[in-house]
Amino acid sequence: MATAVEDIAVIRAAPRLRGEIRLPGDKSISHRALLLAALAAGESRIGGASDGADVRSTAGVLRALGVVVDRVEGDDSADGRDGGRVGYRVLSPGIEGFREPAGALDCGNSGTTLRLVAGILAGGALTATLDGDDSLRARPVARIIEPLRAMGAVLHGRRQDSLPPVTVVGRSPLRAIDWATPVPSAQVKSAILLAGLRAEGTTRVREAVATRDHTERMLRARGVAVRTLTSDGAVTIEIEGGRTVRAMNELVPADPSAAAFWLVAGTIHADAELRLPGVGVNPTRRAAIDVLRAMGADIEERAAGTPDGLSGEMGEPVADLVVRSAALRAIDIDAATTARAIDEVPVLCLAATQARGTTAIRGAGELRVKESDRVAGVVAGLRALGADITVDRDDLLIAGPTPLRGTTVASHADHRLAMTFAIAGLVAEGSTHVEGAAAAAISDPAFFRQLEAVSA
Ligand code: S3P
Repeated sequence: MATAVEDIAVIRAAPRLRGEIRLPGDKSISHRALLLAALAAGESRIGGASDGADVRSTAGVLRALGVVVDRVEGDDSADGRDGGRVGYRVLSPGIEGFREPAGALDCGNSGTTLRLVAGILAGGALTATLDGDDSLRARPVARIIEPLRAMGAVLHGRRQDSLPPVTVVGRSPLRAIDWATPVPSAQVKSAILLAGLRAEGTTRVREAVATRDHTERMLRARGVAVRTLTSDGAVTIEIEGGRTVRAMNELVPADPSAAAFWLVAGTIHADAELRLPGVGVNPTRRAAIDVLRAMGADIEERAAGTPDGLSGEMGEPVADLVVRSAALRAIDIDAATTARAIDEVPVLCLAATQARGTTAIRGAGELRVKESDRVAGVVAGLRALGADITVDRDDLLIAGPTPLRGTTVASHADHRLAMTFAIAGLVAEGSTHVEGAAAAAISDPAFFRQLEAVSA
């Protein structure tokens, strides 16, 4: 049970967990559906999009650029019980018709909004400043400023171009580049690919570890030539410049990163069975499912086709999941797997506290520059709850199983930490107080309502 007093959620150990959870639309796909709709002249409709604050930030930024972005209430979320989803109708003049915004573009808490919009504006014909909340202002942007400058755009950030706000002076056409990303980042890859649309020739992005490929799939579906060449886990993505993005409708699958919280809840709780319909299981997003299964989790997966009617490369594979209580054993998670499960690492740490043996999560350094320093935050919170978790350079080491005891834990205004500690509260003895619980609405506005419903 959860009761919210101001911004503190109080979660008591649940006797059992049962039910079906309607998850929010995938956050990454929702951002891209809006952005690509804005790049396409004409009308696009998006169903089942995330109604979290991050995707609302993307909608707001596009409106400030002169794109009509209407919420279609009742589309997938009419009764408000439907996991915080919303429909959108986007009417765009295309990038040539974007209007210079009056003030800074407010990206809120959303790194994806800031970095992908920077990539789009790099090849535009206007000047704009991208800004956001205190958390966003602490997140690294040199990783996008450098490649976009190499393409010919003019960009400036605070503190020697390392932090937002970021001012972008668009240039058209841009120069095609061949860029090896130093850290695995789908946001950096996507920013370069979106700029590559406006470049002369073929732009290449080389990734040592393949990150989420929604931008590539969605561009292909909209008529843009994007090739992916794979060798030994590394990938090179090529995009042809000067192509137009076609308007198209999109139906967004449920968010696998939101699903991960319930997969862990259903696994570590002693009396649980939870159903999660329509979850995106794109190979670049499903690492948490595979990691939990390798640890012994009982996760049933039934393919549910592709929601947008496309198949193969362009569509997003979707599955209905059922999770039941299971005993876990520790495993060693390599850095490539960690990169593919990057948003799920906090809740995987919680799962590891209940696994027999020492789980290692290698190469988790990028977590330090997410919405908060998630290495520090997850270690502090889980230790307070009684876990044995240590940090060795970029590796997280969790020894288990340890019983968890309810106490007060801080989310540091980070949605994924708030939800991790709330899930911990379902299995911890006594009651767990999560400070800054409202942050959950960044990606899952229905989270605490769902938590009530399945633990009642
Ligand atoms: C995202 C990419 C990842 C992820 C974020 C969403 C995206 O960030 O952590 O939640 O939609 O492209 P990085 O690209 O910084 O790894």
